[in-house]
Amino acid sequence: MEKRTTPGSSRKRLAILGSTGSIGRSTLSVVAEHPEEFAVVGLAAGENVVVLAQQIQEFRPALVSVKDEAVAARLRELLPRDSTPRILAGPEGVREVATASGADLVVSAMVGAVGLAPTLAAIEAGVPVALANKETLVAAGPLVMAAAKARGVPLIPVDSEHSAIFQALQGQRREDLKRLWLTASGGPFRSWEASRLEKVTAREALRHPNWNMGPKITIDSATMFNKALEVIEASVLFELPVDKIAVVIHPQSIVHSMVEFVDGSVIAQMGVPDMRLPIAYALTYPRRLPLNGPPLDLCQIARLSFEPPDEARFPALTLGYTAARAGGTMPAVLNAANEVAVAAFLEGRLRFLDIPRVVEAAMAAHQAQPLESLEQVLAVNDWARDFAQGLIRQKNSAPKQAEA
Ligand SMILES: NC(=O)c1ccc[n+]([C@@H]2O[C@H](COP(=O)([O-])OP(=O)(O)OC[C@H]3O[C@@H](n4cnc5c(N)ncnc54)[C@H](OP(=O)(O)O)[C@@H]3O)[C@@H](O)[C@H]2O)c1
Repeated sequence: MEKRTTPGSSRKRLAILGSTGSIGRSTLSVVAEHPEEFAVVGLAAGENVVVLAQQIQEFRPALVSVKDEAVAARLRELLPRDSTPRILAGPEGVREVATASGADLVVSAMVGAVGLAPTLAAIEAGVPVALANKETLVAAGPLVMAAAKARGVPLIPVDSEHSAIFQALQGQRREDLKRLWLTASGGPFRSWEASRLEKVTAREALRHPNWNMGPKITIDSATMFNKALEVIEASVLFELPVDKIAVVIHPQSIVHSMVEFVDGSVIAQMGVPDMRLPIAYALTYPRRLPLNGPPLDLCQIARLSFEPPDEARFPALTLGYTAARAGGTMPAVLNAANEVAVAAFLEGRLRFLDIPRVVEAAMAAHQAQPLESLEQVLAVNDWARDFAQGLIRQKNSAPKQAEA
């Protein structure tokens, strides 16, 4: 089933970074539902060659990139010789997909700070970005925003909370804005006692009550680092101090976020928890596309509830505000240490409650510097990763205390 654009067609040309991931696959399902709207010109992924090969067969991009040359060789073996696109590898390959595939829009959906450099490259090349990779704005928000402004490049949020705020702000005056409210599901451990959290396993943490997402963001939702990252992301994207960004727990994940205005009026955006909605909006903004799927049935949901977050059980949120207030390179440290700690937790090398402890220790060991360049951010990112790895190794080599 070929969906490639015909020359001269007016379909929007997309390059998708992280096409084999949860957001990448949801993006391609929107494309598959609206082949008259989109053509896929570039795909970048890591190692999942089986899914990538299927995507290449179905969407026929001209340019593809994978994690390294060994993965590229495995991918070539899966593709019929007559339909092979140009296949690149490594960070240079992703950068080329982002900047040289002829895309009208880059969907930035890789996971982690590795998404920063290609996203910034797309912006510097003047290509609009639909941004799912929140780590980009957390690690280097002011640099990315300055580049987008300098080039006049639109940066459209895909994260459901930021998409909700972006939608609620349409047609509003900035000076009428009082506060942003980010909603959070509270994750799978919302009602767990602190003592129970000590023994959380990766399998338990990977079971999100409402959203089906990649492993890293699912763990971030369980620790509430996801909300910490989102507070920083919102502060950067909507250019507001973090003290004007509040978080409220909303377990049903129907209200995706809200904007409060000076007159006390609050505009909320609602919808079923399905990432295809904010993705489709980012792909066609300011238009909307009809999408298949169950409608929002408020009578069936019956109850929407809200409660304050518990920062004692989930200290990640406090760390997020602290990092945002420190500014400069501190959010990059929070992000990098969290990435390392989450990977260690998923591999069984770190306990759940040690994730925020590792992040806090990395932040305490760092003196925030004003943000200057991508090279500086990447160096800070490497430093924080090494620091966190060292701490986790130390924890694992220390003699285990007898269980009380
Ligand atoms: N999932 C959601 O619902 C959701 C919602 C809001 C925001 N986000 C944000 O969107 C981003 C993606 O999340 P996700 O849940 O879609 O993650 P995911 O399912 O883990 O997918 C990550 C993608 O990044 C690719 N990737 C990883 N390392 C790479 C590398 N070195 N080079 C090239 N590609 C690489 C992966 O490729 P392989 O799998 O082929 O290795 C995969 O395609 C994250 O920043 C997340 O915070 C996600």
